[in-house]
Amino acid sequence: MAVRPSVALRAPPKRFAAARYSTKPETTAEFDPNAITSMDKQQPPAPGEDFRVAIVGAGNINFGSDEGPWNHSFRLEHKLGPRLKVTALIDPSEQRAKQVLKTKCDSFVVSAYKDTVIYPNVEAYIASLKPEERPHAIWVGSPPAFRGRLEHGRDLEEVLAKGLPGVPLFVEKPVSTGPVDQAFAVAHKIEQTKTLVSVGYMLRYLKVVQKMKQILEENNLNVMAINARYIMAYEHTAKLDWWDKSQTLGPIVEQATHFCDLSRYFGGEADLSSVMAHSVEYFEPAGKLSKIPVDESRVAPENRIPRVTCATWKFDSGAVGSLTHAVALQGHNYSTELDVYADGHMLRLVDPYNAPILYFRRPGDDHEEIVRYQNDDPFFSEVSNFIDCIENGPGASPILSSYEDAVKTYALTWAIREASERSIKK
Ligand SMILES: NC(=O)c1ccc[n+]([C@@H]2O[C@H](COP(=O)([O-])OP(=O)(O)OC[C@H]3O[C@@H](n4cnc5c(N)ncnc54)[C@H](O)[C@@H]3O)[C@@H](O)[C@H]2O)c1
Repeated sequence: MAVRPSVALRAPPKRFAAARYSTKPETTAEFDPNAITSMDKQQPPAPGEDFRVAIVGAGNINFGSDEGPWNHSFRLEHKLGPRLKVTALIDPSEQRAKQVLKTKCDSFVVSAYKDTVIYPNVEAYIASLKPEERPHAIWVGSPPAFRGRLEHGRDLEEVLAKGLPGVPLFVEKPVSTGPVDQAFAVAHKIEQTKTLVSVGYMLRYLKVVQKMKQILEENNLNVMAINARYIMAYEHTAKLDWWDKSQTLGPIVEQATHFCDLSRYFGGEADLSSVMAHSVEYFEPAGKLSKIPVDESRVAPENRIPRVTCATWKFDSGAVGSLTHAVALQGHNYSTELDVYADGHMLRLVDPYNAPILYFRRPGDDHEEIVRYQNDDPFFSEVSNFIDCIENGPGASPILSSYEDAVKTYALTWAIREASERSIKK
């Protein structure tokens, strides 16, 4: 078996992706636009000691789907190569877990999954764990209803902190569906235990987003306004739960969370007491949709999602933020854009999900410059950076979304949802 090199001999993390970004989320002084972030351009992963991962959730985010480019296991395979050993797959749906494992075991990545054990919950996994099988990372892509809280059954972070203290944790957004103060309490506990956590706000890892940060910082700009627009294509969204606020909390907390997060990334803290919002509800003439792919009558009227939410708020800096989210388009592609304004500057981030482009206007010039980077993969960058930090120590590569920071985004999304609900005319 190949001997794992010491940390000093290990290939430097700058080989990878956003590894050349600064270690602090607030600065991009080391942003390298030429860093390679696409998987097919990486050096093949070297053999070495096993890297054990326990995956929580056998669903779309961890194993892929037709809906989008997410698929954490695929990125882990390309980051770690033959070293990857998925020792546990934790999912109450044994059938779903078996299905994804079969697909993997029928493929060239069989060595990573041939010994994977399926568990119905983390408690069963921890109870059966031998010390030598302690994972190097836990990858959480279970529904947010089962985490980020204090009560039993929804306190995944607490169970892991007790059973597997100090094991680094990757957690998907949103961090919870429970009360915001409980999510802050979980963040506090994580901070106390100094556990390395990365939250899946992958858009922060986009090169165009890092370029925007760099422009703002290098020019010492005060952001004046941020305008986020997220128009989703609903025709193929066939999960009934997505249309049910009691299940997935609605499109602001579940989906527009990415743009609320980017707004905070560029604008700083939002003053939650300033949030105002209006919505278009299902029962209003403007809210009638003709191609909903599920039987919405199965969702209780009070839990049906808004078709449009328009919100405004102040940032602590004095800047203003606004968000328009709409469930309005048909077909497949969303229309998304986030504009940042500062004295003499306009930074327009267009289509960050599919073909990210930055349109950029400088002082003293009427023209918009265009910045785009080929083959950028923010999902790979967030996976790669997290593994680099586990292997080479915190700070080896920047982790751009901490747990506490992600809770602040969660709080903003709830403030928007609540403000819009207060303004509904029944
Ligand atoms: N960052 C992104 O772009 C992105 C994209 C998709 C999903 N997500 C997030 O990933 C998370 C999961 O979404 P998904 O689309 O994979 O959902 P999914 O429904 O496809 O899969 C969830 C899986 O978790 C399992 N599960 C249910 N309860 C569980 C529990 N207590 N413990 C372990 N597993 C449990 C389910 O059986 C299912 O297999 C959500 O928080 C979602 O918002 C993020």
